[in-house]
Amino acid sequence: MATAIVATTYGGPEVLSPVEIDVPAPGPGEVTVRIHATAVNPIDYKRYSGAFGTNPAALPLRLGLEAAGEVIAAAPDAEGPAGPLRVGDEVIIRAEGAYATELTLPAAKVLPKPADVSWEVASGILTVGGTAVHMLAATGVAPGDTVLVHGAAGSVGSIAAQLAVARGARVIGTAGPDRHERLRAYGVEPVEYGPGLADRVRALAPNGIDVALDTVGTDEAVDVSLELVPDRDRIATIVAFGRTAETGIKGLGGGPGADPGTEIRADAWRELLDLVAAGKLDVVISKTFPLDEVRLAHEFVRDGHAGGKVILLP
Ligand SMILES: NC(=O)c1ccc[n+]([C@@H]2O[C@H](COP(=O)([O-])OP(=O)(O)OC[C@H]3O[C@@H](n4cnc5c(N)ncnc54)[C@H](OP(=O)(O)O)[C@@H]3O)[C@@H](O)[C@H]2O)c1
Repeated sequence: MATAIVATTYGGPEVLSPVEIDVPAPGPGEVTVRIHATAVNPIDYKRYSGAFGTNPAALPLRLGLEAAGEVIAAAPDAEGPAGPLRVGDEVIIRAEGAYATELTLPAAKVLPKPADVSWEVASGILTVGGTAVHMLAATGVAPGDTVLVHGAAGSVGSIAAQLAVARGARVIGTAGPDRHERLRAYGVEPVEYGPGLADRVRALAPNGIDVALDTVGTDEAVDVSLELVPDRDRIATIVAFGRTAETGIKGLGGGPGADPGTEIRADAWRELLDLVAAGKLDVVISKTFPLDEVRLAHEFVRDGHAGGKVILLP
């Protein structure tokens, strides 16, 4: 028997519980993975919070989107996007229900883990990294652009900011004061969010901002972006979907009317894993929790200032 985390009803983290699950042997084209680390994403708690509506028929709700682990059983024809999969392979998986000790899943959702990348980082890079790659592509970030990243020390924002620097852009990033040193190390010019943000950014970039990437979703982030960026096609949000129709800015991801970017996100692993393995992309692990302390992990992430990825260790 294996263990998985489910939401037994809709509510706060108190509705999360470990349950015993059967893990079937792999069928054709499938593998079974023993999970060593699984990442928490804000969407995980939003799913059972009721923020997207409630559906009693979907309960108990399995949680988790991504993990890293080791193949412990494989069908002879199991072939992932990077080639055949064998028992003992260290892998990254993208699959619903990843908050578990073991999972059987189609090999198409299984990628090779670079040897020098930790389980924690491997489990937490692809959802936020794919989102960041999509944000840069959707707004056409190019050398010479001045880019404002809202939430530049967050999980998505820090990758978006580092990738924008790597693409030759000048990057200004909002963050709480205790994160400014880290942003400077990435080549990002930090600025504190809060009242007066537009003036602080103008003081840094009197010639204007070309692109704004919002990973925060506050009215402040959207309004400052609208004030400073002349071309609305070059403002993207992954949170403030309620502001996109009214303003003409781009919503990206799973929100209403948003561009899901399915293909670009699915392919982003090639660039992201190469960069992480080469030490050219920093993924901060803020905290790890044992899998059965998932409630505490969700409370920590829900606070909105985790300062990096939060990882569950089965
Ligand atoms: N649409 C999509 O495809 C998609 C994909 C992934 C994530 N998301 C969403 O994107 C958001 C960010 O995800 P994440 O994983 O990056 O979260 P995260 O790691 O928790 O980062 C949150 C960030 O928000 C900043 N922040 C918090 N309150 C703020 C405020 N009042 N003003 C300005 N900044 C503030 C934090 O800054 P400090 O820590 O410096 O205070 C931090 O940088 C979540 O809502 C998530 O659901 C959407």
